[in-house]
Amino acid sequence: MKTLKVNLPGREYQIDIGQNILDIQLPKAVKRNSTAHVVVVTNTTLQELYPNFVFNLLADSGVKVSTCVLPDGEKYKNLDTLSMVFDFLMDVCANRKSLLIAFGGGVIGDMAGFAASTFVRGIPFIQVPTTLLSDVDSSVGGKTAVNHPSGKNTIGTFKQPEYVCIELSFLKTLPSRELKAGHMELLKHGLIQDADFFNYTQQHSLEPLDFDYLEEAIFRSCKIKAKIVEKDETEKGLRANLNFGHTLGHLIETHAGYGKYLHGEAVGAGMLFATFVSWRRNEITLNEWDLISSALTQYLMPLKLLKMDFDTFRNLILHDKKAQKQAVNFILLNKLGKSFIFPEMSVEILWEEFNLFVQEYPGIIRLE
Ligand SMILES: NC(=O)c1ccc[n+]([C@@H]2O[C@H](COP(=O)([O-])OP(=O)(O)OC[C@H]3O[C@@H](n4cnc5c(N)ncnc54)[C@H](O)[C@@H]3O)[C@@H](O)[C@H]2O)c1
Ligand SMILES: [Zn+2]
Repeated sequence: MKTLKVNLPGREYQIDIGQNILDIQLPKAVKRNSTAHVVVVTNTTLQELYPNFVFNLLADSGVKVSTCVLPDGEKYKNLDTLSMVFDFLMDVCANRKSLLIAFGGGVIGDMAGFAASTFVRGIPFIQVPTTLLSDVDSSVGGKTAVNHPSGKNTIGTFKQPEYVCIELSFLKTLPSRELKAGHMELLKHGLIQDADFFNYTQQHSLEPLDFDYLEEAIFRSCKIKAKIVEKDETEKGLRANLNFGHTLGHLIETHAGYGKYLHGEAVGAGMLFATFVSWRRNEITLNEWDLISSALTQYLMPLKLLKMDFDTFRNLILHDKKAQKQAVNFILLNKLGKSFIFPEMSVEILWEEFNLFVQEYPGIIRLE
């Protein structure tokens, strides 16, 4: 087992990563919290694959455990589903001393975290991520959110968990498409911050599952994210680097309809686009472009999107039809392993680059 600390003053927490660790580590973490009532938030898929898993793990711990099972999917990451969590918390008489456990991927983590941060003005919560994406990214760092029809993650809060337990065995049941999508956020951490880590990922294959690789890669990935979050928890600046690939990624998710493409797939295409823009602006060399693009494309599949005009593109990027501004902060690379924030990149420029990108790489994004 590997262990990592996220050092935020007054809100530090531990992340454990390993195989077959949850049954020992989770009851201990619940005990540390001295709660009498645990509410598990999960979804129908996990409940079917791992029936009452957390409930059974905590059976001997003397705490009451209630399980809230939500419908599965990005399209349910919204205020209506969140409302179901609040109704459930009320029904089971949860209170300020209750502890919430998110048992699922990023969608469950984001919604459970939001509920924990707002229910009776905040109750503690633990993340038990079950997808590669949530292992390497969403379970760490404290961003919570739901989607609005006009923009991804536009309603959210910051709420750090008390503890994160990354149990690698859950990856055995994760579909290959989800695994590849999650790997994108892991590669992102190498691309923006750590070339050695990126090169390390290139020396291993993702499938068949190699748990030694996964433990080390997830550890290094979480460490990169944790260090950034420690320096800039609420994204005043530096943390925005983690949004590498997300400007176009979120546009793809919203335009295609939530759930059509996986977050990691959309972000993967967005990372390739941002790398393309970096190369076109001479921020990175042709060699770097070749190396990064061939690393990313092996995990990407063609994303088909409805044709869009400039206004649609602009509104999706700015999340606001009435916005006066015409520019966004855009994350570029200036070498492999180093990103930077390009402030106020004009949407017109991004639109031109997007059209060129789509023309040159129809195997990545196809407009129909
Ligand atoms: N808060 C953050 O900092 C942050 C960071 C990155 C992404 N996100 C969010 O995370 C979400 C994506 O997360 P995700 O990729 O985990 O998607 P997800 O939560 O939808 O999970 C993907 C699918 O895998 C299923 N699943 C989960 N664990 C499984 C397992 N062990 N075996 C089989 N199936 C399993 C789920 O039921 C779902 O159908 C997006 O909404 C994204 O916006 C948040
Ligand atoms: Zn992401």
